[in-house]
Amino acid sequence: MIKALRGMNDLMGYEAELFAKIVRVCESVARNYGFELIETPKLEQTALFRRSVGESSDIVGKEMYEFSDKSGDSVCLRPEGTAGVVRSFIENKFDKAGGVRKFYYTGSMFRYERPQRGRLREFHQFGVECFGEGSVYEDASVILLLAEILRKLGVKTTLKLNSLGDSSCMPEYKNKLIKFLNEREDRLCEDCKRRIITNPIRVLDCKNEACQSELATAPLITDNLSGECKSEFEKLQEILLANGLNFEIDKRLVRGLDYYCKTAFEFVSSELGAQSAVGGGGRYDRLVEFLGGKSTFGVGFAIGIERLIEILKLKEAPSSRSGIYIGAMDEAIVSCAFAIGQKLRAITKTHIAYEPKNLQKHLKSADSKMAKFCLCIGEDEFKNASVWCKNLEDKSQDMVKFNEIEDFFKDRV
Ligand code: HAM
Repeated sequence: MIKALRGMNDLMGYEAELFAKIVRVCESVARNYGFELIETPKLEQTALFRRSVGESSDIVGKEMYEFSDKSGDSVCLRPEGTAGVVRSFIENKFDKAGGVRKFYYTGSMFRYERPQRGRLREFHQFGVECFGEGSVYEDASVILLLAEILRKLGVKTTLKLNSLGDSSCMPEYKNKLIKFLNEREDRLCEDCKRRIITNPIRVLDCKNEACQSELATAPLITDNLSGECKSEFEKLQEILLANGLNFEIDKRLVRGLDYYCKTAFEFVSSELGAQSAVGGGGRYDRLVEFLGGKSTFGVGFAIGIERLIEILKLKEAPSSRSGIYIGAMDEAIVSCAFAIGQKLRAITKTHIAYEPKNLQKHLKSADSKMAKFCLCIGEDEFKNASVWCKNLEDKSQDMVKFNEIEDFFKDRV
């Protein structure tokens, strides 16, 4: 038997309902914040992710679905959404046009990680990216947008916040950190040793226990910010608090992708086990230029839809009964049941049974489909131009004339 690939799931039933609900909420909140839909390809040139997500990241280092296509070009299934949106922004010359552009997207991402609860190889993100707005109010705005989505979905999280500085403070801080790391290099894991050269700040979020205790006294960027970065970070905190959003400062939050500067944030949930991040993002003011465009401010986030589904599944019961089931008890009456079912489909979800069955079997099928009403037409009902109807919630029964059926259900479904 051919099975789905490891870490790649089918989506159906209650989980599919939750998926649609999450996307609906995300999109409506994003539209209220002035974002417009963008769709970018799932397959892009590998160089796009190498250059943006960064060589030192786990994503580029270990997790990319990268291969040569039939013409020998190196292509890659997107591991995240930001790089493709930035590529499109530049390719469409929005950087040259100036002004502010705000995009939202939903789609599958691919990372060759070790699958576990909340960690898949194909997963879905909803994300937003705002270009051309350098104000810290926009950082606050995208964080509040994400908080609003989570509030609307009823998901409780903690917001973790940090500032990664910019070119006015990061280089000096990096030198300080590299000196600290070099003094301890022989006691660090192989990944950390490699990162001292490629991207030293990523050493700070190493999960290895020995490294963590070795790094307990490491200098942190938050304590080494330039005057401007420090006051922007304080302003951000002030705006969030003034708008009712609490947070924790996490000085070790560096994020797993290399393109961030200044604001970095993550919303975490205690209901998710080891993979606790529901969503995260930050500012990436150098990325457009880095990918060949005109220097443009950028800030955004992405949330993991499967992780939200996991949380909602714990809280919400599958939806109750809905819609109508209609069936006939005789082969000659199926076409009549079909025609009535077709009319009802204009009003509500209606399942039409194509096989004639006895009443008990129809009731059983209607029940398994979680229908609210079971409608049945036998010989007697057909002669009287009526449908037998049972409400499977309150168990009440009615005989409804064919020509009154739409009126009957108008207020009941
Ligand atoms: P990220 O933190 O790598 O950021 O991913 C965002 C979210 O995607 C995570 O918080 C998590 O919920 C979900 N996620 C990540 N990996 C997996 C996985 N293997 N299985 C299931 N869910 C996963 C980004 O991707 C950035 N592009 C976010 C961003 C947008 N920054 C600025 N703009």
